[in-house]
Amino acid sequence: MSRTVQALVAADTSGIVRNATIERRTTRSHDVDIEIKFCGICHSDLHQLRAEWAIDNYFPMVAGHEIVGIVNSVGEAVTRYAVGDRVGVGCFVDSCRSCSSCKRGMEQYCGGCPEKKDGIHLTYNCKLKDYGGELTFGGYSTAITVDENYVVRVPDGMELSSAAPLLCAGVTLFSPLSHFGCNTLKGKEMKVGIQGFGGLGQMGVKLAVAMGVKSVTVLSRSAAKRKEAEALGAQFLLTSDAAALRREASSFDLIISTAAATYDVNRFFDLLVVDGHYCLVGLPPNGLHVNAFKIVTNRRSLVGSLIGSMKDLQDTLNFCSAHNVECDVVVLEASKVNVALADLAEGKNGTKRFVIDLKSLLPETKVEEDDRIDPNDWEVHKDGKVIPASADVSSRGLKRKAA
Ligand SMILES: NC(=O)c1ccc[n+]([C@@H]2O[C@H](COP(=O)([O-])OP(=O)(O)OC[C@H]3O[C@@H](n4cnc5c(N)ncnc54)[C@H](OP(=O)(O)O)[C@@H]3O)[C@@H](O)[C@H]2O)c1
Ligand SMILES: [Zn+2]
Ligand SMILES: [Zn+2]
Repeated sequence: MSRTVQALVAADTSGIVRNATIERRTTRSHDVDIEIKFCGICHSDLHQLRAEWAIDNYFPMVAGHEIVGIVNSVGEAVTRYAVGDRVGVGCFVDSCRSCSSCKRGMEQYCGGCPEKKDGIHLTYNCKLKDYGGELTFGGYSTAITVDENYVVRVPDGMELSSAAPLLCAGVTLFSPLSHFGCNTLKGKEMKVGIQGFGGLGQMGVKLAVAMGVKSVTVLSRSAAKRKEAEALGAQFLLTSDAAALRREASSFDLIISTAAATYDVNRFFDLLVVDGHYCLVGLPPNGLHVNAFKIVTNRRSLVGSLIGSMKDLQDTLNFCSAHNVECDVVVLEASKVNVALADLAEGKNGTKRFVIDLKSLLPETKVEEDDRIDPNDWEVHKDGKVIPASADVSSRGLKRKAA
């Protein structure tokens, strides 16, 4: 039997979430039912609640893919987890398991296979053709049901609230840092830049330092973040300081950009050595303009990286536990979620992660609205789709700005 659970639901692209109920699927034999304790608020939640990416956006939407909780019950074939275990769920809850990416242990790049067309099953905002059009709902809710193979274990002793952001922000930086060798001997010779010092950026700096990277630099637009960068053992480069950027020219082996909005990326290619890598993890809705000369003339690589595999996810948690890496979080009650979303849009999270305490989400919980959330302030992406179309509030008389 399916279960009715409490959730913070966005009915449409208004950017506002409200307390409502949703149905969780009937437990399958390999499923674990998880009582969600905490869920982080990622900037990707904001992009999707606002339908500002060029993707399909399904409503009603329950965001949240930094989920930690306790196993409540298990299906009869579950072997990996038992009732009472501390577990986490990240950005996807299944994949086809037989495409070349899945076979190589890179489920995050699953493109599906002839039998299973859905490819990666994102934790939310994903309509599953293989399951009769089931819509996935994320972690801004009190419970979730997930196949045991897409669940990870939260190491003993790790505080659950600060572990939550590791499920997206953590792994999204852990994966490319590992891929480029930062956690090997090579890292001891590397100069690495983390651009954009928000939720992901904080994790990038902490992970790179803990991996033993020779030199870690924060590249930020915000002078106020200098102290925090230095306290974490990083250098600081103010991106508006052209002279400082010139002094650092051709010196970085790797820069990982977490910037959430469009900016002039070409200025930063000059910072890379010959054969250096500029890795995008930030997903600005309206993209970036690349000057080919800046890449071609020094054989620099522009690459991207999406979250991480299931192995990366468990490795991230284990690494953080072993190296005492925690995410600095601001824990908030469910009633404050709209305030947090408005703050995140204004960059008021600083370098921290907002995390919702789901025990505060009860049937009677009144979720505050926030006047700062005004759908006229962002664009529903012109190449995206809002499904159903009636959930696009910009079609209800609000002025729709050109994307
Ligand atoms: N690839 C993936 O798998 C993946 C996973 C999770 C999230 N993401 C994406 O990563 C991005 C960051 O997420 P987050 O949760 O870390 O967000 P966040 O906490 O809001 O941090 C984003 C940072 O981007 C910088 N920034 C904002 N506007 C900018 C602009 N116009 N130009 C340059 N920099 C700007 C700011 O850093 P400074 O003030 O320091 O400049 C800000 O702190 C989002 O686009 C999100 O969707 C991608
Ligand atoms: Zn995320
Ligand atoms: Zn696959």
